[in-house]
Order: sequence, then C-alpha cells, then structure tokens
Amino acid sequence: MPIIFDSEKKIFKLDTLSSSYIFKIYDENYLVHLYYGAKIPDYNLTDFEDRRMYASFSASNPNLLRTGFSADVYPLEIGCNGCGDMRIASLQIRNADGNASTDMRYVSHKIYAGKPALKGLPALYANEDSECMTLEITTRDKVTGAEAILIYTVFEKHSALTRSVIIRNTSEKPFTIEKVMSFNLDLIGKDFDLITLYGRHNNERNFERRALAHGRQGIGSRRGSSSAQQNPFMALLRHGATEEYGDAYGFNLVYSCNHLCEIEVDFNESSRIMMGIDPSDFGWLLSPGEEFYSPEAVLVYSNEGLGGMSRTFHKLYNNNLVRGQWKKAKRPLLINNWEGTYFDFDDDKLFNIAKWAKDIGIEMLVMDDGWFGLRNDDRCALGDWTVNENKLRGGIGSLISRIKGLGLKFGIWYEPEMISPDSDLYRAHPDWCIHVPNRDRSQGRWQYVIDMSRQDVRDYLFDKMSEVLAHNDIDYVKWDFNRNITEAGSALLPPERQKEFFHRFILGTYELMDRLTKTYPHLLLENCSGGGGRYDPGMMYFSPQIWCSDNTDALSRVDIQFGSSLCYPASVQGAHVSASSRSGYETKRNVAMWGSFGYELDPAKISKEASEEIRTQIADYHKYYDLIHYGDLYRIISPWEDPYKVAWEFVSEDKSQAMLTVVVKFFKEARNFFIKLKGLDPEKFYKCDHNGEVYSGALLMNAGLSMYHLPDGDGESYVIHLEEVK
Ligand code: DGJ
Repeated sequence: MPIIFDSEKKIFKLDTLSSSYIFKIYDENYLVHLYYGAKIPDYNLTDFEDRRMYASFSASNPNLLRTGFSADVYPLEIGCNGCGDMRIASLQIRNADGNASTDMRYVSHKIYAGKPALKGLPALYANEDSECMTLEITTRDKVTGAEAILIYTVFEKHSALTRSVIIRNTSEKPFTIEKVMSFNLDLIGKDFDLITLYGRHNNERNFERRALAHGRQGIGSRRGSSSAQQNPFMALLRHGATEEYGDAYGFNLVYSCNHLCEIEVDFNESSRIMMGIDPSDFGWLLSPGEEFYSPEAVLVYSNEGLGGMSRTFHKLYNNNLVRGQWKKAKRPLLINNWEGTYFDFDDDKLFNIAKWAKDIGIEMLVMDDGWFGLRNDDRCALGDWTVNENKLRGGIGSLISRIKGLGLKFGIWYEPEMISPDSDLYRAHPDWCIHVPNRDRSQGRWQYVIDMSRQDVRDYLFDKMSEVLAHNDIDYVKWDFNRNITEAGSALLPPERQKEFFHRFILGTYELMDRLTKTYPHLLLENCSGGGGRYDPGMMYFSPQIWCSDNTDALSRVDIQFGSSLCYPASVQGAHVSASSRSGYETKRNVAMWGSFGYELDPAKISKEASEEIRTQIADYHKYYDLIHYGDLYRIISPWEDPYKVAWEFVSEDKSQAMLTVVVKFFKEARNFFIKLKGLDPEKFYKCDHNGEVYSGALLMNAGLSMYHLPDGDGESYVIHLEEVK
C-alpha cells in the first residue's frame, strides 16, 4: 500500500518505489514531520523527541510546556503564522478581528485511490484510480473556524508526490488569506545545495548551484507569469551528490503566475522548504462557506542524483500531466514562418514556403504573427483577431485549402491575453486592459495585457477566436504571451479584492485555454511566451509542447535545453532549425532533434545545398522520434561542468537502443576523449552505427567509447546510434 496509517502510533507513511515520506499526529494534534528520503521499510522514528531542539526564546503551547515541544523547532507539515512557529509561514490568515494568528491542528483524514481535480487549476491526474493514492487531512483553527485541507497524492511507480492545500471558511465571518503555500517540508539538516533555473528572454533556464546558508533564500517571480527569469523549480542536492549519485529532491510548482520558492535554514540546522503563490501582492477574501484552492506542487526524490530526479519528472509529466489527443500521438514536423519572414508575408509567400516544405518532407505550416488586423509590425492590432485580407487574399479559408491541397497541416498564431493601444479593440474597450486608476499604463513591446480576470473579456476572446477556429480546418494554435504585467488591477474588482488580481488573471487564462482545448480537442496547442517565459507545468497541462526559447542559435540553445531538462521532458520542448544560427545545419539539426522538432526559415533565402541537406535530416527525425520523446535522458557532459563541449544520450525504455549526441562548442585539444555511456543493459550487445563495431553494454558504460576520430572543430557535432544485436 503506498499510504498507510498506523492508528495506534498515529503515523502516516507514504511510499513510492524509491522514497518514503513519514509524519505523525503529535500531542495537541500538531502534524509533525518525521522523514522524507530513500525508501525505508519501517517507521520507528519517534526518537526525534530526544533531539533536544528546544531553545530559549522559542515559545511553547501551554499544554505542552513539560514536553520540550515548541512549534518553533519541531518539523511540521504546515507552518502557521503567529502562534509559536517563527520560521517562514506556509499559511497566514488575517481573521475577521484583524490579527493574523493562524493555528491549524489535525481533525480528521481520509485515504482513497485516485486523485481529486483542483477547481480551476491545472494539476497532475491519474489515468486510472489504481495509479495513485491520496491522503486528505483536514486541519482546523478552532478560534477562527478556518480549515486547511492538506492533500497528498502518491504516484508510487514514479517516485513522486503532489501536494496542495484547500482553505475552507467554515465560520460565520469572512477572512483574508494572506499567504498559502502549496506545501511545507521541514527537512532535518542543511547539508544541501540549492539548484535553480534563472535567465531572461533568449537565455532561459540557466543552471545555478549554491550551498544552503542559515536564514532565508530562494527565488520567485512577481512578473504575472512563471517567467524566464526564475522558473518555478528548485532542487536540493545533498552535499557531494552528483548527476548520477546521491540524494536529490526536486520541487516544481504547477502554476504560471507569481510564485515564491523559499527555504529557511533555522538555528537548529533544519531546512524549511516551501513553494506557492508569491504572497507579496496576493490576498484572498474568503466568505463563509467558500473554498480556496492553492496550486499544486510536485515533489520528487531520487537517490540516483540529479539525473534520476530528472528522469522521474520526465516520465511523470509524459504520463500524468500532458493530456489530450496529442499526448502520445506523433506530432507533425512543422515549419514556422516567423524567423523566415517576420511580418512581411502574404498568402503566396506562405504557399511557396509550404510547397518547399512538402517537397522535403515537412508535415505542417504554422503561420505566425501578422495575419490579422493591420498588424504589419509589432506596434498595433493585438486584439483585432480578424483576418487581414490584403495579406491573405481570398481569406484564410482560401490559404488553408491551398496548403491542405499540398497535403500539409495548418497552424496559426494568437496572443489572446494582449491588446495593442493602437487597435480597434482598445478604442472600443479602453477599460479591458489591465490598469489602475490615474496611473500611466506601462507598455511592453508596445502592448498592454488584457484583463483575463473578466468573464466578458474571456467570452469575447473565445468568440473571436472561434470565428476563425470553428470555420476553418486548423490543426494547431501557437499561444504567445510577450510581456509581463504592470499596474496590476481590474476595473471590475472592488478595492478589497484588488489583491486577488494576479491569481484571478491566471485562473482566467486557464479557463480560456480549457474552453478552447475542450471545444477544439483536435487542436495541438503550443504555448510560447517570447520563447520560454511560461515554460512551466501549468502550461504543459494545456499544451503538450512549448516553444523553449526565441534563441535558435544551436550553440546557445543547447545550454537552455540542458537547463530545461532538469525537470521538463523532451516531448514538450519546441526546438527548431533556423537559418540565423551560427553553426552548420548538421549541428542545428542535432540540437533541435532534442525536442518537438521543426524548421523556422524562409527557403527562398537559403542555398540549394542547405535545402538538400535539410531533406536528408528529416528521416532521422522520424527514426529517433520515439527514442527522444519517450526514452530516458542521460546528461553525459553538461554545460555547467564543461564550457567546451556537451553530450547527452537517450536510451529506449527497453534498453534496446540509445542515441548519443555530442556538440563541440569550442575546440579544445583533448586526445583522450572517451565517453562512458549510461543507462544501457550491461548484458546486452549493441552495434554502433559510427564504426560498425559491436560492444557489450558493460563495455560501453565502463570502458567507454573513444571520440577521438570524430569532428571536434568549433560548432561541430555528431550523433552515434547504438542498437541491440541479439
Ligand atoms: C515571440 C515568439 O517567441 C516568436 O516565436 C514569435 O511568435 C513572435 N513572438 C511573434 O510576435
């Protein structure tokens, strides 16, 4: 059983294949955390009471004065503000009488097969109830009547847990939630390194590793999106742990708006870890009888280092996050016109791109920004989602039938959450953009963000998009989001609810995405936010692929893809070959194959030789599709370890084949360059397509393969394929 409750000892034990998570109902109904880490068979852990964590200045519950207990020093499952626990709080409620003392204690629990949906929010799901098990614990503040329901779901086979919290107002008076984090985890010890993914537009998800220090540390976003600046992901790696060995804990928030990922190391050398909605510009007024759902966080433990943690996330997300018809279906190989033409296109130009694309084996044309209103540059027309018939002469239907006549699928670009000041929509509805009274409206890329918290706005967008989507044979939508939110407020919210704005905004976006994908289930939705500005599991719930970065230069892109791979699978990673990249087409292809592959260029602007080279690349994409999308990823040489070259490997689930890619960023003399492969079956024998030799898996993983004769100039790369011989 993945979840057991020992009613005598009052202990909960949540087991996955490789981890155990244990806590107990302590005196006075505090929920005390006992252990999270490598799987253990038993749970005789109550010797924590001998640890003598108690300290002067840590106040105690008056009923527990003689026990040494203080909410300030015991590891807890929920960290409440103001009643003895002085560490960072995971829950803070401002009561009707104005104080923010919050004190949740265990009341009851239930355990059941399956996983509940989270109202209005993306979340992991069970394909069948038997796949996971849920523990729901009701805690209650006896003074205020507030309840916090702690939800733990165990994905046993994937060695992962999800956690979230529901706040319920069971009292007679309204109160305000000032902070509600999705989980609180108190790990004993501080001997960890914190790993996070920082970046910016064109340079997303860089790996950063630092040792935990006493006090508070962490990352977050206050940009109205999960952001390119700090992804809602962090990992803790035990000191000395590596890519392949040692304790690795991964935490990822299924949310696309403001977030906080925080750790406090306290004076007892314990580390309190939490993730959730950033509380600094948040508040939620909860009336009697109402509920509030926090976003969900995913917790992964692996004793196989960072690599084991990543592979767990990848499998889990491929199975239990990505949804719909495109979850397992082979995605079409696409060409997008953006980098090829920018705004300068018409129906004939698109048709010519499509003709070339069809000839070399591409399967879908995506028409990017510029097809609507008077959108000839980025200064206008967002919101005017009607076809520009000066560009698409004969209308979109005519263009689509020409493209379909070639046998290609067709995709289209939208940026629904935006509105240009120079647009008919803005002239008609100046109050529809996010703004606050009497302040200038800041512009980003010449545009405002539309108020997605408003039902009328969402209905307008749905209807407007449906005018195109319902009447045309469209297979794919790219949903873009090209700025962050300033002057946050909604014209429709009363003053006491303005603090709800950011969360209401993203709930509105989720609702529209949900409505669209339910109404048009055949659509392949690809998210994008100026590249990877919303590359998060919340978005992955709606769109099985996300444009990873606007940076298509293969030699920089490879670093972005390594960072992204810490928790996101290759199947979601939109990756294209473009003309602008520094390296040759071989390297561009080798890098872009690590993801949902495509092209982004104008064939009229590339040489005949380049065109012929591209033709030969496409067969490999088909050949390796399953291996890359569903295989296990091993990072062999990561950019954070070696500035000169990188290498990665995919191994099929049955270990019958593997693909190794090496990219040389800068030449460096290295005669003795061997790569030891990973994840193979030591007993199997594999044929290497590079030299025709047959090697045992044991040899490849222990002695390694010499790379000496392979290309090693700046920007060169190669792929080696290994296939089992019986
Ligand atoms: C930003 C995206 O990342 C690009 O791929 C492209 O769609 C542009 N927006 C269009 O404005």
